[in-house]
Amino acid sequence: MLRCEPFSMQTIMAYDFDTLIDRRNSDSDKWRKYADPEVIPMWVADMDFRSPPEVIDALKVRAEHGIFGYVAPPPALTECLLERLQQYYHWSVQPEWLVWLPGLVSALNVCCRMLTPEQAVLTTTPVYHPFLYAPDNMNRALIRVPLALDGSRWQMDFERLEAAVTPQTRLFMLCNPHNPVGRVYDREELTALAEFCQRHDVLICSDEIHCELVLDLERRHWPLATLGEDIAARSITLMAPSKTFNLAGLYCGFAIIPDAKVRHQFNRATAGIVGHVNSMGYAAALAAYQYGEPWRQALLAYLRGSRDLLQQWAANTPGVQLSPLEATYLAWIDCRERGLDNPAAVFERFKVGVHDGRIFDAPPGFVRLNFACPHSRLQTALERISQALDG
Ligand SMILES: Cc1ncc(COP(=O)(O)O)c(C=O)c1O
Repeated sequence: MLRCEPFSMQTIMAYDFDTLIDRRNSDSDKWRKYADPEVIPMWVADMDFRSPPEVIDALKVRAEHGIFGYVAPPPALTECLLERLQQYYHWSVQPEWLVWLPGLVSALNVCCRMLTPEQAVLTTTPVYHPFLYAPDNMNRALIRVPLALDGSRWQMDFERLEAAVTPQTRLFMLCNPHNPVGRVYDREELTALAEFCQRHDVLICSDEIHCELVLDLERRHWPLATLGEDIAARSITLMAPSKTFNLAGLYCGFAIIPDAKVRHQFNRATAGIVGHVNSMGYAAALAAYQYGEPWRQALLAYLRGSRDLLQQWAANTPGVQLSPLEATYLAWIDCRERGLDNPAAVFERFKVGVHDGRIFDAPPGFVRLNFACPHSRLQTALERISQALDG
């Protein structure tokens, strides 16, 4: 099973996450958002770090080839991915279960498209905002069930889920690890969720894009589909190398769909509208999975350092609560005690650009802060946020 191994100093030192790299002239979505060049952008989920050197080299080799015609998934990539799933999760995935995808947001929409117009989708909030839009994009009803907040830790509320589910509910959309609240659901919670889905005969789309970014050394990621044959047969698991290796702009992800009928329905729902993965996406994914593990370990060590900075800051900042950062590089901060209706707008005036929690269907007063940047930049941002809170 994939456990986040304690890191050695040697691993961390081998890579540089400290250099401030100018992304302003790279058409970065993140860095273009704010007209004011002084604003530190900490909103959309990509990192201000260069990808592993082996990925950059593989892309250069692919570019040098110079022919960019239509491509099929490289057999070496499938082989390497199946080995990885076996090694990390003891999950024996068959090659035909894989569906390669140019991004996972499209897959969220495809899952909703699989339903008939009368059927409904269930999800827990706050949640990554495309979960909220996908059902509407496909003219399907969405039932939103708030997660329960225990102190600063968010968890599934099965009483509320039972009360909300209807006979029309056909799909549950799970985010695990959960963006934005940072949870890695434990085996007991996932087992209860699997039973819930079985009892109500619903399919489950399990978005596990952040599964290789577990920061809490006491936790491990359990792919939902590994919990049993019944849940595997009703699951569509979404994963990608994009968050882990900072490849989001190369659009390469995949679904794992063990059941042939569900897979057929999924493929039917993609037909003619979902494009293909491109040659650069495949080349980057292959290099990341083949050679990127030492870099990933170093990244995790660095992000754990960032998490510690955030925790120290939160502990010394009255009236803010940081949710336990079990996974992801997205901090979920509750500023409600400070009485701010829109803390994101206030922080922007102090030159830090974060997401307003309301886009994830959270109550007013929350923000999501992307801390995948050099520690020096994070420290500057936290100082500015403290000034904003005091001002
Ligand atoms: C839970 C989750 N799913 C999907 C995505 C994006 O997927 P893609 O860029 O592959 O469409 C993100 C990006 O932040 C995410 O957090």
